[in-house]
This record gives sequence, C-alpha cells and structure tokens, in this order.
Amino acid sequence: MADLSNPKEEVKKAADIIEVIGQYVQLKKRGQNYIGLCPFHSERSPSFTVNQDKQIYHCFGCGRGGDVFTFWMEYHNLSFPQSLKDLAERYNIPLPRDRDSFAERKKTELKELLYKINDLAGSYFHNILVKSDNGRPGRDYFSGRHLSQETISAFRLGYAIRKWDGLINYLGSKNISLDIGAKAGLLAPKKGGGYYDRFRDRIIFPIFDLNHQIIGFGGRILDDSLPKYINSPETPIYHKGNCLYGLDSAFKNIRERGLAIIVEGYMDMLVLRQHGISNVVATLGTALTSDQIRRLKGYTKDVVVLFDPDDPGREAALKSFPLFLNEGVSAKVLVLPGGEDPDSFVNRYGSEKFKELLKGAAPIFDFYMDQALAHMDIGVDGKIKILGEVLPIFMDVEQEATRSLYVHRFSEKTGINEAIVQEGLRHKTNASQLKDRFYSAQDLRKYGSDLQFLNLLVHYPERIDHFRDQEWELIVSDPEIVKIIRVLMEKFTLEGKLDRIEEFLDSPVAKEQFRVMLMSKPFYAEELVSQAVREFEEKIARVKISKSIRKASSEGDIEMLNRLIKAKQDLELDSKRT
Ligand code: UTP
Ligand code: MN
Repeated sequence: MADLSNPKEEVKKAADIIEVIGQYVQLKKRGQNYIGLCPFHSERSPSFTVNQDKQIYHCFGCGRGGDVFTFWMEYHNLSFPQSLKDLAERYNIPLPRDRDSFAERKKTELKELLYKINDLAGSYFHNILVKSDNGRPGRDYFSGRHLSQETISAFRLGYAIRKWDGLINYLGSKNISLDIGAKAGLLAPKKGGGYYDRFRDRIIFPIFDLNHQIIGFGGRILDDSLPKYINSPETPIYHKGNCLYGLDSAFKNIRERGLAIIVEGYMDMLVLRQHGISNVVATLGTALTSDQIRRLKGYTKDVVVLFDPDDPGREAALKSFPLFLNEGVSAKVLVLPGGEDPDSFVNRYGSEKFKELLKGAAPIFDFYMDQALAHMDIGVDGKIKILGEVLPIFMDVEQEATRSLYVHRFSEKTGINEAIVQEGLRHKTNASQLKDRFYSAQDLRKYGSDLQFLNLLVHYPERIDHFRDQEWELIVSDPEIVKIIRVLMEKFTLEGKLDRIEEFLDSPVAKEQFRVMLMSKPFYAEELVSQAVREFEEKIARVKISKSIRKASSEGDIEMLNRLIKAKQDLELDSKRT
C-alpha cells in the first residue's frame, strides 16, 4: 500500500534509478557502479556514474548529480512537481493533490494544457485524414508518396483542411480556449484581434517527445507553393533544438543496433521506417545541435548522417563536425547517388541497396575534405577559402590531440603546410591575414630559388652565419644575386646588421634586385624559417653530390660513383621525411 503522506519516497522506491536513467543514457556496469557518457556536458569518456544501492548519480566531469528526480528535472527540463508527477504516473504511484507555489502550479498547468490541446489537435488532423471526406487531398497526397496506412497511424499523420477556422471550430466545440491554442502555436493571431488556423491545406506531422506526447507539428503544403513546410513555433513544451523527429519510436532500436541514422526530413524518416529501417531520426531541416547529439549518444556512439551533396550539405557537415568530435560521437556521412534524398532513394532502389551504401559511409572529416577539394579550384584562393572555413572549426575542437590529428590530415589533403594551419589556430588569424601568408607562398614559386634564398637572408639576417661556411653559391645561379649575398655576408659579419647595402652594390641590376627583396615581405613566416634553412642546406648538399657524381663519372671512378649515388638517395629520403 502506497504511503500517501510521503509520495516522494514511494516514487523513489518504485522508480529504480538505473532503470530510469538507463532509458536515456547507455549505462555499463563497472564495479559497484554503472557508468555512461554524461548527458549534461560534452565528454568522450564516461564520467557519469550511477549507484544503484544509493539511488544516486554523479558526474565526475561536470559535477552534476542527484537522485532520480533531479535527473528527470534536468534531463527533461521540468519542475520538481512535474517530475514527481511523471515518475509517479510511470510507476503507478497515486499522488495527493499537490501544494506547489501558485506560479509553479500555473506553469505546470499551462504545459499540461499544451500537451492536451496538441493531443486533441493531433487527433483532429488524423481523423480528417483517415476518415473524413475533407481528408481526400491528404490521402491522395500520401498515397502518391507511397506511405502505408500503418505508417500513417503509427505516426498519427494528419491533414489540415483548407479553412481559416477548421481547428478553431473544433477547439470551440471542445470548450478549449483559443488563447491556449495560440500558445501551442496551432493558432496565429489576426491583425484586428482573434485567431486563425496556422495549418491550412497541409499534411500534418505531429512531433513527439520521448514520452510519446505531441509537442509540436510540421505541416507540408500539397503542391510546390511556398513555404513548403511550416512548423510550430517554440512553445513552453517545444524546443526544436533539442528534439529529434522519431526518437521516441527509434531509441530502443538505435541502442540495439548501436547505430543511429540521421536524415533531414519528415518524409525521409517515415519512408525509411516503412522500409524496415527503424534506427532513424530526423533533424527537421535545421542544423544539428549539440543537444541533439547528446540526446542520441545516450543510445549509441555511432552515427551516420545523410547530407546533401551540395553547398548547404557540405556546410551542414562542416558545422556539425566539431559537435560530434566534442561529444565523442563518431559520425559518418552518407551521400546518396543521383541527388536523391533518402525517401526517393529507397522508394526507387529499396532498403537493401540503402543498407549497402550505409556500410560505405565516409568519416565526416573525409567527406568534408573531399567535397571541398572537389568543388573548388585548388588554387591559392580555393585553399584560402577552405582554410578559412576549417580554422574556426578546428578552434572549436576541445581536445588538443584530436585537433592536431585533424590539422595533420588537413594539411596532407590540401598540401597547405601544417605550420601555417597551426599558426592560424594560435593567432586566430583571419582570412585576409591568411591571404597575405599564402600569397607569400605563391611569391615563393613566382620568384624562384635564387630570390627565395635572398629573401630569407634579407629578412632573417641572423641566419646568414649559418650559410657563410657552406658552398651556398652552388644553389644560386644568378651572378647578380651572388654578388648581393656576398655583400650581405660581409656587412653582417662586420656590423651585425644590414645597413646601406645598396652603396656597396656596383651594378644597377643588383641594386634593384636588392631593393625589391627589401620591400617585399618575408616569403617565410617566422615559424617556417628553420624549415627553410634546412631545405636550402639540403639543396646545397644535393648539388654538391651531383657535382661529385658528374666528376666521378667523367673520371670513371665506379666505386666513388656508387658511394655518391647511395648518399644522394639517402639525402632524398631524408628530405621527403621532413
Ligand atoms: P526538404 O526541402 O529537403 O524537404 O527539407 P523534404 O523533407 O525532402 O520534403 P519533401 O520530400 O519534399 O516532402 C528537409 C526538412 O527541412 C524542414 C522540414 O523538416 C523538411 O522535412 N523544412 C524544409 C522546413 O521546416 N521548412 C521548409 O520550408 C523546408
Ligand atoms: Mn524529400
């Protein structure tokens, strides 16, 4: 017999914390505790701990914790009284009339009314679709899109008639205040006062929360007019950013299969379901949010997202990339061939084909890079654009090690020097600064090796010492440049600085070359200087060996020749490795 004087204790006894939390967070037994990924903060390894004996949870990452009520309140964003009510209902514990504060009670009442009116409206739309003569356009529409009767009833799909007051009259007949209808987003205010139906002549998709209650609606027009969809606005019970269409009916399956498929549209989700693919949810056209990902990761850490193979799709993939990374969810991307969306694809080719493609989904980063590189000219401007897009994304990646890994892969794929990417990250370099940096890289190619070497010495004279005793002349072919460098070396050795160099240059050509280099910006960013020095050094060594090879070969010294060729190969291997 339940103790009505202490309902909280009664509910606590009945609602086992492992069972309740286990519905939303994937828990694994670890010693005395259960652990999982915290649903309240981003984490990649589990620090969210639940203890069955004590009936409490605690996250060692974010410090949040409490009992089964705290969890319910925080996870569902509800008040204590509402959480008590929800759990009591689930576990069949009778509650005495509550004695909340007035404001608290009002809020709870409003939410309850909103659920109720949504439920009424849902039935109203659904009944029109399946029963009424007025529902014919809706029925025709769905049959044209191959949706079965079972799907229609399982998801309570509906149809809103082409009238301004269809739902209004219905709510009136049920004595429901229109103000509440407006708060639920079902009615919109008229200019002169009063309301009209928000959804007219549209197919209706109710959106459910995890308790299978309707929290909002989407409505699709039957033809090509715009807007194609209208959706419920945000209400006290509907927050688009943290709900996923179909999660209530998919989460068990997602957990069982260890994989969630995310699609964009209502129809995509429904048609895949109808084809027996039950671990699928939809984002409803908006960009994925970390709340949504966190919600999903209670059921699996593997996700395949279907993005369109166009610019918005690429952008969406890019935006969601750090979210997945930071949540420790491994995301892959599937792009269907032929520009099909999931709905048209499975209708045409069937679900087996779809499942096959699913297996070949690419990791989200690779997808992005392939898209970016395929759709841009890979010239300097294209690369700057990609880098500009990628830098803020990399900055959002919280883990240093993960970031470096991606930076590395990024430079491999683009050929953009890793140091430049790192430098961009460190200094939050903006696009135009990057452009400067890049154009100097382009200058490098434009000016050729002689001037590159000169530029290095002019802008980083402290490196002159390093080359003084090397046969640097071997890598400078222009005699005018050789002259300039000789003067630089003498002056720097004597004075420790480069002053009035021009006066010591005898030819006008040399004077001009020197001026140009002095005015031009450094070709090498500071952090690239050591690498450049090394590369010139290696070049000198290579030329030296080649020279000796020529000599040995003309003298017929086979043994020497072999030794030199071997040395040359080693050198080349070395320079490839760095
Ligand atoms: P799509 O334009 O890809 O539509 O938008 P769809 O789902 O393929 O629709 P059908 O197949 O033509 O019926 C994807 C999703 O974006 C949201 C909807 O949730 C839609 O399912 N959306 C789209 C809107 O909310 N409003 C719009 O005007 C368009
Ligand atoms: Mn579609």
